[in-house]
Amino acid sequence: MLRSVIDGEEAGGGTVLESRNPADQADLVARVELADAVTFRDATAVARRAQREWAQVPAPVRGQVVGAFGRLVAANKDALARLVTREIGKPFAEALGEVQEIIDTCEFFLGEGRRLYGQTVPSEMPDKQLFTYRVPVGVAVVITAGNFPVAVPSWYLAPALLCGNAVVWKPAEYAAATARALAELAWRAGVPAGVLNLVFADGDTTYAGLDAALTDRLVDKVGFTGSTAVGRRIGELCGRHVQTPCLELGGKNPMVVAPDANLDLAVEAALFSGYGTAGQRCTSLGTVIAHADVHAEFVRRFDAAVRSAPVGDPTADVVFGPLLDEKFARGFENTLGWIGDHHTVLGSTAVGRITAESPREGFVGDPSTGLFYHPVLLDGVRAEDKVFTEETFGPIVGVTSYRTLDEAIELANAPGYGLSAAVYTNDPATAFRFRQGIGAGMVSVNNSTSGAEAHLPFGGNGKSGNGSRQSGVWVLDQFTRWQSMNWDFSGSLQKAQMDVTTIDPDLRYRLPESWTE
Ligand code: UN1
Repeated sequence: MLRSVIDGEEAGGGTVLESRNPADQADLVARVELADAVTFRDATAVARRAQREWAQVPAPVRGQVVGAFGRLVAANKDALARLVTREIGKPFAEALGEVQEIIDTCEFFLGEGRRLYGQTVPSEMPDKQLFTYRVPVGVAVVITAGNFPVAVPSWYLAPALLCGNAVVWKPAEYAAATARALAELAWRAGVPAGVLNLVFADGDTTYAGLDAALTDRLVDKVGFTGSTAVGRRIGELCGRHVQTPCLELGGKNPMVVAPDANLDLAVEAALFSGYGTAGQRCTSLGTVIAHADVHAEFVRRFDAAVRSAPVGDPTADVVFGPLLDEKFARGFENTLGWIGDHHTVLGSTAVGRITAESPREGFVGDPSTGLFYHPVLLDGVRAEDKVFTEETFGPIVGVTSYRTLDEAIELANAPGYGLSAAVYTNDPATAFRFRQGIGAGMVSVNNSTSGAEAHLPFGGNGKSGNGSRQSGVWVLDQFTRWQSMNWDFSGSLQKAQMDVTTIDPDLRYRLPESWTE
């Protein structure tokens, strides 16, 4: 039985959930005992106490702990990736990539422990010094989804801990065993028990516990990765408590295929970003916007690629495995209801669950054991279609067409998300105009919408997020606050703006004509 771990002690007492392998539902990965709202709130009080001491640990030493965390994850890379595959059905090669993303993140923040720079700033008066310091925010509540059950949490945990914060982490219940394993590696690397607390709770309990903790002023930052709907609620709640959360939400990520694009490369990218992780990345491809001149040929090649893509057992070499869990499978079935009569349905021999009666050619393994779905490629998608405007979170990609680049950019921005966007072109003017016009936080040229590197700013705008950025130096602004200090050693009270020496320029002066004629 998996239970929450608060200050190194197990806590639970609530409903028991089962986390099952979505590729083989007979395989029970873990039974998870959920915590109640009071336990959640109390975990933040524990974190509050532990944080004071942790903040006193010099940043380079905290960096060593984060570095050790990365090395321990590296030493357990295969085991952790196997667990990711078993618990959420991500193909093993992708799971290895996901674990690598933690290692990369820890490597980056190990070094940041020796920087975490502040500045010295010139004063407008003599004998006065100005400084800036990064100070930890305090207690961070981190709430994460299960599609990236270890990499995305590490984007919060590594910088939050490095900056001197304590964390209460609420992972997705359906990825509880993976979360428990990652937390164990953090503690074994030297993160003090009260500085990282793991709480298993359902959504409503988390909301109630967070509300109570915010009311008692026990939380200074909330980091949330998940759906736009839940992000809105968390944003509202934090706003009421005068807090700005870090929100990393959904995406409806477009890929524009220009007339001069290398179509084979564009198809390869569309296959990876549309169907990799079974389309369940926040960066997954939503709609291909192909130029009218290449639309038909692109769709022909894309359809051939999707039809022949190996789907099935995620321990094998497949493009995608099952959906994350029952809830996501139901969500995808709902999405399939958005397919209309005007769409051309391509990509497989059927739509819906892959079964013995509705088989998929080349399926790897036994489809009856898991939550496996036919990939869907929808041509003829229109801007007013739900499948065009809404995030689909499953193996479905739409295709529409455009004539002018302005039209393509307008279509790409139309759904109102703004996470990741790609353009395939060999024309620099098209690439730069696309970058200028697109509202996404991340832009790829001749690369897919998914697969961001771990040290570039990650995040979106509009319905994809509130402008917060994760990763690299940019996330430091989420987990530290700037404190400025001024120190006057003049021996008198020098008043800013009032006691400042001024110079009197002769602004009426003009160059004599004899100099310039
Ligand atoms: C997510 O789906 O929440 O860029 C994160 C990518 C991955 C991270 C996705 N590195 O696709």
